[in-house]
Amino acid sequence: MKLHADTRRILGKRDRMIYGHFIEHFHRQIYGGVYDPGNPLSDEDGLRTDVLEAMRRIHLPVLRWPGGCFVSSYHWKDAVGEKRIPSYDKAWRVEEPNTFGTDEYVAMCRKAGCEPYICTNAGTGTAEEMSDWVEYCNLESEGQYAKWRIANGHREPHKVKYWSIGNENYGFWEIGAKSTDEWGRLVAESAKMIKHVDPTVELSAAALADIDWNVQLLKNSGQFLDWISIHGYWDPIHETNDCADYDACMVYTNDIDSSVVKVRGLLSAMGLDKKIKIAFDEWNLRGWYHPNVHSIVQGVTKEEYLYPRDKNDDNTLYTMADAVFSACFLNMCNRFCDIVGMASFAPIVNTRGCIYTHKEGIVLRSTYHVFDLYVNYLGDTVLDSWNEEMPLKALKSRKGDPVDVELLDVVVTSFSDRKGYAVAAVNKDGCCARKLTLDMEAEGDVSIHYISGDSTEAYNDIGHEGVQILHEKLGAFSRGMEVELKPHSVNIIQIGVEE
Ligand code: AHR
Repeated sequence: MKLHADTRRILGKRDRMIYGHFIEHFHRQIYGGVYDPGNPLSDEDGLRTDVLEAMRRIHLPVLRWPGGCFVSSYHWKDAVGEKRIPSYDKAWRVEEPNTFGTDEYVAMCRKAGCEPYICTNAGTGTAEEMSDWVEYCNLESEGQYAKWRIANGHREPHKVKYWSIGNENYGFWEIGAKSTDEWGRLVAESAKMIKHVDPTVELSAAALADIDWNVQLLKNSGQFLDWISIHGYWDPIHETNDCADYDACMVYTNDIDSSVVKVRGLLSAMGLDKKIKIAFDEWNLRGWYHPNVHSIVQGVTKEEYLYPRDKNDDNTLYTMADAVFSACFLNMCNRFCDIVGMASFAPIVNTRGCIYTHKEGIVLRSTYHVFDLYVNYLGDTVLDSWNEEMPLKALKSRKGDPVDVELLDVVVTSFSDRKGYAVAAVNKDGCCARKLTLDMEAEGDVSIHYISGDSTEAYNDIGHEGVQILHEKLGAFSRGMEVELKPHSVNIIQIGVEE
């Protein structure tokens, strides 16, 4: 395929928050994941130093917490101060010890070097409870909640800038789900109280690519919102854990931008596209495995709804399919950098996350290396480009139908702090290498940084490294240069980039 790029035409500057992540009180994400007091690898706050180090290596910009479904019956006051009150987590149907709460989370974010982003309980919670949380975190000393924070040993405000009202409150599975009318009103009142407490916060609210939901939400609350939250999990396997095969995952990439396109259209139609940005604040190729949990059928046992979650820990499931899909998602965010300002890979640790923890260390799954490539090798300024002779292949979808898929996905960038260009080039083809011809004005040495693995099924596990970043020098650039992209690979091609 021939890639033409006009290096003078800037599409926009992407926000580094598109490389953000999410962590939820689910299975081993917090407890036994990033928070593991007593483990020799944990620090004085009980935080795993190896996980923090891995977070810093991908310059984690922002981390959404505490849920997810979990948050819709979470009461933050149970999880601060000396006396922690264990609660029953009605979403995931386990006891929540509440030993990891707001102060521990903010401390973790500061150590990881990222911005905290708190999602509030808009399921069973109230506007008052949400805004009390903002008081606790952000007021200097006024009122009982800021004073409580100080009494808990935090003299300075936590300065949490990013907040979101609710999580997937449109869904029947969510505790305290809302109708469109209820949602519009609740968000308006909550947003008003939150912004009265701290007008400097940036506020989002749970949404999806649905006209009725968003029109009600935006009519009622558009004036208060800076963000609108949407989520996407393409392989719907939360009940089955039967991962779609590589080709079917590539078929999902055809649909990777559809909710962004729809929500953006709606924001434009309502004259809000310059005011409100999209926070794609949960995304992953595959849904998390938690069968039977959102069921109203009584009598299901823990063997049926609780223990199966351990199967999320099978590292062989996280292959080049996840990596290639994730790179296409990040390309989409770069391409839509004028409207997508934040995204959160769901989750960062364990379950289907990019970092897996065990007692003696961590495994960096294939998706971790995608973040490493994009964060550490790609530029921040997205340039205009177009493709000639895009290769297409009919691949079998999950249902078995043949679907045409574009095999290459390419984004061209430059750097605002350095010379040179970086091209993110994804080859989705599961069996063939593909040639990319670079038709652009540039000079300097060319290097390629990539992951491919030795098959589509390559994965990383304890003592097994099937996917790692490789680096090659390709010589001096000349216009029309051809670069070979390995099968099922994620590549960053740097041209004239100074170290
Ligand atoms: O399966 C995990 C859940 O996915 C998250 O808690 C929720 O926000 C989403 O539906």
